[in-house]
Amino acid sequence: MKKINIALIGAGGMANSVHYPSLSAFEDVNLVGLCDVVESKLHATAERFEIEQRFTDYQKMLEKTSPDAVYILMPPQHLFPLVIHSLSQQHHVFIEKPPGVTLHQTREMALAAEKHGCKTMVGFNRRFIPLMQKVKAIVEEKGPIIQCMSTFHKNTPGALYYDGIIDVLTCDAIHAVDALRWLGGGEVKAVASDINRFYSERENSFNAIVKFTSGASGYLCTNWAVGGRIHTFEMHARGISAYINPDAGGCATLYTNGGTTEITPAEAAGSDAAHKAYGFYGESRHFVDCIQQDRRPLTCFADAIKTMELVGAIYRNRIDVD
Ligand SMILES: NC(=O)c1ccc[n+]([C@@H]2O[C@H](COP(=O)([O-])OP(=O)(O)OC[C@H]3O[C@@H](n4cnc5c(N)ncnc54)[C@H](O)[C@@H]3O)[C@@H](O)[C@H]2O)c1
Repeated sequence: MKKINIALIGAGGMANSVHYPSLSAFEDVNLVGLCDVVESKLHATAERFEIEQRFTDYQKMLEKTSPDAVYILMPPQHLFPLVIHSLSQQHHVFIEKPPGVTLHQTREMALAAEKHGCKTMVGFNRRFIPLMQKVKAIVEEKGPIIQCMSTFHKNTPGALYYDGIIDVLTCDAIHAVDALRWLGGGEVKAVASDINRFYSERENSFNAIVKFTSGASGYLCTNWAVGGRIHTFEMHARGISAYINPDAGGCATLYTNGGTTEITPAEAAGSDAAHKAYGFYGESRHFVDCIQQDRRPLTCFADAIKTMELVGAIYRNRIDVD
């Protein structure tokens, strides 16, 4: 088995909590270097994951370690130049969501990946949650999904992402948008939306009905001014309905003529470790497998363009403009 050499940029929250624990468990991955501009974080993270080569300049790290791939894990406003440079040096690239601050950035990153023959992936982890994958497979055994729903609720009405550099929908509710696209078959035919501000100067509720080219109807229901974090999904096909809450403590309930079945996130993942049950381990495994097998990752930059386009269509197609 070929070993994939991966260099890491960013020693922050997501890196330490989910991505490096996943990568460091893979037998076919070498972590060849770590870079962060904050030395205390750099050394603490490098110690934890036993990474010898440490850098505060990512370009030097890439030159010195010549990795196959690079993980670039930092707030979206810092991402673009690092991604473009890494691709220009022909390194495969993994980033977190959102895939840049604007659709323009996503498109430029996808063009650069195409030009330099690199594999890319955006961490839209909801698609890799074992419970979501298992339930989707069971539902699709009955036929294509004909109706789907993606909800995301929080209780932070005035939430400001990175001092306001990026909006709620593009930065965070995009998880619900991307998951809906996945459930509806990926290709959007038409969109109508209702966007609101509740108890805030900023828009914080994004609702849409999405017609997919598959024929499926998709519903997006997000609101940052309600009870708390609730992030659920529905998948419906001929003779089967599934209601899924993949968060810790949640479960999926499937209804058919034959009765009701319940599956928990830990049962589907074979583990109750959060990074496994919530799809982070699976998304990194998929990225590394795609490099090993010369396949295109499911959530590559070219695919992320479609999710960013759907975000744009939700803003453009309001049924009621103030
Ligand atoms: N998938 C999810 O569910 C999920 C959840 C939370 C956050 N995220 C996303 O993860 C990404 C990272 O978020 P985070 O909270 O881990 O960030 P963070 O701020 O905790 O960490 C970022 C790190 O990058 C370092 N850094 C910044 N610029 C650098 C540079 N030029 N060179 C080297 N190091 C640099 C910082 O010092 C910091 O240590 C964001 O895009 C966020 O939207 C995703």
